[in-house]
Amino acid sequence: MQTRTDLINFLIKKHGYKRYLEIGVQNTAQNFDKIEVEYKVCVDPDPKAKASYLMTSDEFFENCKSFFMNEMKFDIIFIDGMHTAEQVKKDFENSIYLLSEGGSIILHDCNPLKEEYTIVPRPKPTGNWHGDVYKFVSRIPKTNIISGIPKNQFYTVNIDCGCGVYFGGIDGISRHRYKSGLLTWQMFDKNRNELLNLIEWDDFIKL
Ligand SMILES: C[S@@+](CC[C@H](N)C(=O)[O-])C[C@H]1O[C@@H](n2cnc3c(N)ncnc32)[C@H](O)[C@@H]1O
Repeated sequence: MQTRTDLINFLIKKHGYKRYLEIGVQNTAQNFDKIEVEYKVCVDPDPKAKASYLMTSDEFFENCKSFFMNEMKFDIIFIDGMHTAEQVKKDFENSIYLLSEGGSIILHDCNPLKEEYTIVPRPKPTGNWHGDVYKFVSRIPKTNIISGIPKNQFYTVNIDCGCGVYFGGIDGISRHRYKSGLLTWQMFDKNRNELLNLIEWDDFIKL
C-alpha cells in the first residue's frame, strides 16, 4: 500500500521538482529523510522533531522572506502540522504564495474513516487522530475554469489517511471563494467521494 512518501517522491520525479518544504515533522525518519529531492527543509515547533526551522508554521511563513532573501519558492509543500481546519487553511493559503509555478501542495489526513478520529481539540495525546482537516479540504474548489474550460486542480489520493494534492497555482485559488456553510460529519461521510474528489492511486498515477 502506497504512503504519503511514495506520493511525494512520485510527484517530485514526475515533474522534476527540486525544492521541498514539510510543515510538521515529528520525526524526520518517518517521511522527511526519505524524500528524494535536491533541496529540502522542514518546520516543527517541537524540539524532538529536529526540524530545520524550530517554530510554528505561522512563525515560519511570517519570517520566510528574511530566511530566503525574498527569493525562495518551493516546488512541493507537504502540510502535516496542526490538524485543525482553521490552521490547515492558514498553512494552505500561506503555501500558495511560496509555491513555484507548476508546483503542488500535499495535505495529509484528508479522509478520516471514523468521526471519533476527528474531534477537535484532540481528546487524547495518543491513538488515531486526523483532526478536522477534512472540513477545510472539502471546501477547496476541485476545478478551475481556464479559458472557459474546467480543469481539475485538486484530488485526494485514497492512500495513507487521504493525501490531498493541489496543483492549481496561485491563480487557481484566487478566482474562487471557498464555499461557505457548515459541514457535518454525516454530510461529509455520505458525500466524501465528491467533496474530496477521491481517486485511487492507480488512476492518479495515470493522470
Ligand atoms: C502528524 S505529525 C507530522 C508527521 C510527518 N509529517 C510525517 O509524515 O511523518 C504532526 C507534527 O506537527 C507539529 N505541529 C503541531 N503544531 C504545529 C504548527 N503550528 N506548526 C508546525 N508544526 C506543528 C507537531 O509538533 C508534530 O510533530
